[in-house]
Amino acid sequence: MWGGRFGAGPSKLMQQINASISVDKRLWRQDIRASKAHAAMLRDCGILSTADAGAILAGLDQIAAEYERDGVPERLELEDIHMTIETRLAEIIGPAAGRLHTARSRNDQVATDFRLWVREACSEVIGGIEAMRRVLLDVAEENAETIMPGFTHLQIAQPVTLGHHLLAYLEMLTRDRSRFLAARERMDECPLGAAALAGTGFPIDRHQTASALGFARPTANSLDSVSDRDFALDYLSAAVQCSLHLSRLAEELIIWASPPFGFLILSDDFSTGSSIMPQKRNPDAAELVRGHSGRIMGAMTSLMVTMKGLPLAYAKDMQDDKAPVFEAHDLLMLSLAALAGMLGTCQFNPKRMRAAAAGGFSTATDLADWLVREADVPFREAHHVTGQAVKAAEERACDLADLPLSLLQEIDPRIDARVFEVLTVEASVRSRTSYGGTAPERVREQIEAARASLD
Ligand code: ARG
Repeated sequence: MWGGRFGAGPSKLMQQINASISVDKRLWRQDIRASKAHAAMLRDCGILSTADAGAILAGLDQIAAEYERDGVPERLELEDIHMTIETRLAEIIGPAAGRLHTARSRNDQVATDFRLWVREACSEVIGGIEAMRRVLLDVAEENAETIMPGFTHLQIAQPVTLGHHLLAYLEMLTRDRSRFLAARERMDECPLGAAALAGTGFPIDRHQTASALGFARPTANSLDSVSDRDFALDYLSAAVQCSLHLSRLAEELIIWASPPFGFLILSDDFSTGSSIMPQKRNPDAAELVRGHSGRIMGAMTSLMVTMKGLPLAYAKDMQDDKAPVFEAHDLLMLSLAALAGMLGTCQFNPKRMRAAAAGGFSTATDLADWLVREADVPFREAHHVTGQAVKAAEERACDLADLPLSLLQEIDPRIDARVFEVLTVEASVRSRTSYGGTAPERVREQIEAARASLD
């Protein structure tokens, strides 16, 4: 491809370090699509004869059919997917294949292919997020009234509903979705026609290729076009945050599935056994979702470090841009699907959750709030009084609701029998009706609004 000025070919080792075909063959569809748009544009601009363009377009279709059927051959000496396809084209149509590369360079070619790929990847992830959001909504709806302990510091804080807890993840995923949408919109510009770095003297029509490939417009600066990988970083940064959310949910499933918690049992579909301990039901899939998020973060770091020291325009370091993005995408899609599967098929244990929610004096805040509301006690003082009640309950090893009224009145005479109405976990949850709060009626409203936004 570039042998004109060289005496001998590159050494085996040079070929080995230079070749990217094993990774970038994944771009074959995008490469053929972009080449067809380029050839048609060259023809329409009078740069390529109709006959040559016809042969090139037919040859590219034939290659697509071959790859679809047999996969992409990996020949190290052909370096990358661009040379692999061009070489095959020459085998099929002869020397006219050499005209396809007019007014183009592999630099704008790879930038275009990769952008097309990442744009599609954004759409795939958005689909995966939608599926996950549906599962979250379904399980939240079934559990709008299921009481569980709400935690801070992993200490029991106040009772909440499971539906409310799951809707918190729905919020995260909704933000993730908007990050992928924004990334996709920002990358909606076509670098094809920037050529090696400076543009070209041929009378090409970059608007035609941009619109043929479904981009909103061509990129504005040819140097930026071949040197920019922001679109890949935007994708990765959205992927990092999304995987971080999935990792947190996976961690919750792991904790909840642990027998001392016993809040849920994972389905057989998403559990593994132990080869030595017959009683084990391990949450491997959740652990791998948690683990994969680390690799996705590593992918983002890898590409940032690759890019940060590069002067304009193209440098071969940038060939290393694809592996981390491909890896991150595969891991993210798998994580989304596996987590949705786990959540959709696990069995919650409402009894265990309710019992845990009642422990840890989780309605102490309700007692303090009652004193403020019914006896006009300043909150700080009410907090102190409640602390004494908790201490008394602790000494008797009972719940706040089980303390005799006489004892409560000894602690503070302003307490009367009505206080017991607020000391149960049900009453506590029902009372949290502020906007965004955990009361079942609020949770149902949130579910309805979220459903409307999905449909
Ligand atoms: N395989 C290369 C890559 O992925 C294609 C671009 C090569 N350009 C060049 N001037 N060597 O980056």
